[in-house]
Amino acid sequence: MTSTSSLAAQARGYAKAARTLEDENKYERARELYLKAAKLYNEASKIATDKTDKNTQRDLAEHLLAKAQSLKSSGAHDSVSGISSGSGGSDSDESSLSKDDLILKQIPNIGFDDIGGLESVKEDIRKAIIYPFTHKDLYKMYGQKAGEGILLYGPPGCGKTMMAKAAAKECGADFISVKTSSIVSKWVGASEKNVKQVFETARQCEKSIIFFDEIDSIAGRRSESEDYAKRVVNELLAQMDGVDTADDNLLILAATNEPWAIDPALRRPGRFSKLVFIPEPDLDARAAIFKLNLKGRPISDDVDVNRLAGITESYSGADISAICKEAADIPLGEALRGGEARKIAMKDFVTVLQGRKPSILSWYVEARAEVRKSGEEAVFEGIMG
Ligand SMILES: Nc1ncnc2c1ncn2[C@@H]1O[C@H](COP(=O)(O)OP(=O)(O)OP(=O)(O)O)[C@@H](O)[C@H]1O
Ligand SMILES: [Mg+2]
Repeated sequence: MTSTSSLAAQARGYAKAARTLEDENKYERARELYLKAAKLYNEASKIATDKTDKNTQRDLAEHLLAKAQSLKSSGAHDSVSGISSGSGGSDSDESSLSKDDLILKQIPNIGFDDIGGLESVKEDIRKAIIYPFTHKDLYKMYGQKAGEGILLYGPPGCGKTMMAKAAAKECGADFISVKTSSIVSKWVGASEKNVKQVFETARQCEKSIIFFDEIDSIAGRRSESEDYAKRVVNELLAQMDGVDTADDNLLILAATNEPWAIDPALRRPGRFSKLVFIPEPDLDARAAIFKLNLKGRPISDDVDVNRLAGITESYSGADISAICKEAADIPLGEALRGGEARKIAMKDFVTVLQGRKPSILSWYVEARAEVRKSGEEAVFEGIMG
């Protein structure tokens, strides 16, 4: 039987072996094992039922994947061929990553029902990316060009990544989640090739959504970037201009919590021309997020999610998720020390909340200052409030 815990245990074993190999400068073998560990964590996260486990395993998978890639891109010990030829290199180039390295192609298991609140954002997403897939003929009839790219922006931990995954699930498309960190290679020509590879893969799917998460890490303003980063942005612009959504059945989504840092050329019509602000959860959304996160845990009768929602203004969805986990840790810890296995009570939430401030207030301070500096208050009205 493959359970989450046995997969995770195997993954831990591989990761440990990989670290030892890395210490011994056996980079190629270390890289292979890091990749194996990442794959196993990824599988474990897919079948995990507990949200926290799921997220932890997914984070570990991402971390180990990045680790494997950093061994590759720093590949002083690899024998590298033809990296600077820049012309028509083959996919086996050491400098460009394989499809598997670059792309996490998956059918997401998060739907709109798993996202608390944000109803108007869900409707925006339906209009912008789901209906163009499901009501193609209507869009054509009225001469509406479907499928402009969408940039989701907003404070950290408020559901941007979740929303993108849910969108793919809702319209039944393959979800090509691009690891932005893995695109960037300092090898001449490799980063652009990686961008190209992503679009080629997407075109081979019957229906797909390409999702550039944390796009600020690859699409910074060209005036402030290094050469290779400029080339990545140029390639991205070229690829986006070349997408005919009607034929390609391909939509492009991106997310960032630093929208002001993105090259403005990416926001022109036909590219990421639609900006969707994903705000922190309101009262109803917070209650919904509490409910989602407490599902399946033993909860005492005195726990009132509406009251919890009322005292967590300005907390992000990720904060609430962490609060629930920490609150559950209190009776768990007691039981592990031999106490009675009691239910999670209101007092546990109060204890946790006393030691935890909302995480997004400082983001707003910085974001407002940056947006003012760039003079784009009207563009990012979500942030300015
Ligand atoms: N609206 C929501 N409903 C349910 N859970 C939420 C919601 N918003 C956030 N969460 C919880 O917070 C976690 C982080 O959300 P997500 O990764 O989508 O945030 P993000 O906006 O992409 O953050 P970042 O900018 O840091 O990448 C989710 O895994 C989930 O547990
Ligand atoms: Mg995210």
